[in-house]
Amino acid sequence: MRLIYEGKAKRVYELDNDTLLLEFKDELTAFDGLKRDAAPGKGTYAAALSAFLFKYLEDHGIETHFIEYDGGRMLKVLKVEMIPLEVIVRNYAYGSQLKRMPLLKPMQKLEPPIVELHYKSDELRDPLILPEDAIAANVITDEEWKLIRDLALKIDRLLSDLFAKHDLTLIDLKLEFGRRNGTIYLADELSGDTFRIVDREGKHLDKEAYRRGCSPSDLVNNYRKILEILGIKLEPIKGKKAHA
Ligand SMILES: Nc1ncnc2c1ncn2[C@@H]1O[C@H](COP(=O)(O)OP(=O)(O)OP(=O)(O)O)[C@@H](O)[C@H]1O
Ligand SMILES: [Mg+2]
Repeated sequence: MRLIYEGKAKRVYELDNDTLLLEFKDELTAFDGLKRDAAPGKGTYAAALSAFLFKYLEDHGIETHFIEYDGGRMLKVLKVEMIPLEVIVRNYAYGSQLKRMPLLKPMQKLEPPIVELHYKSDELRDPLILPEDAIAANVITDEEWKLIRDLALKIDRLLSDLFAKHDLTLIDLKLEFGRRNGTIYLADELSGDTFRIVDREGKHLDKEAYRRGCSPSDLVNNYRKILEILGIKLEPIKGKKAHA
């Protein structure tokens, strides 16, 4: 097993030409890595939540990279050619959106949800771009953009509905997609690192709490609470691709 990439949140190992192992780290970072802490337990909770949500999306007709989950910090996924974009879906006005559009009120409902694109670049700090920029730069085709936008909205709807059943509100979410043999797959992770969710009292269960100064262990407890609320156990999960 060869380590091919180490990011802020995960280590990526290559199992073979078709499959990767994502190891979720027990580490917390925010503000482009400026703030960082050890966070025992975080990796397991983020991996378990990702696995559960990928499986849920697959069961609802979304193609994802998920193959199987080991019950710990490891996710086996299909290796795809990553598209260097962050696709953000916003259901309520928050964060950087309020900075660029101050006429929006914090937590104002966005109906329909807004899909925005960022170019993944650490040096440039993931700048907001137009879909037309990505198409003109040959990052995606016009056809892929339509597909990705549609997928992002479907994923947002499915996750919002699931969370709403448990009195959780999905504020916004960041998605990454990849391609393989002409198919677009949802890849990367789905966790409190990549979406904002609040409970009935408006308490953040996502990484926002850490950005605002809560301790690493409180954040890990929040991540555990998300699993508890959704009824997710720390046990192995097999996706459709594991059975194929
Ligand atoms: N199925 C997949 N196939 C190939 N690469 C993937 C897949 N899923 C996720 N990745 C990539 O694996 C890496 C995971 O690492 P991590 O999320 O820690 O990175 P990061 O620190 O957020 O930095 P960045 O995402 O900018 O590379 C990301 O680069 C992500 O794009
Ligand atoms: Mg990442």
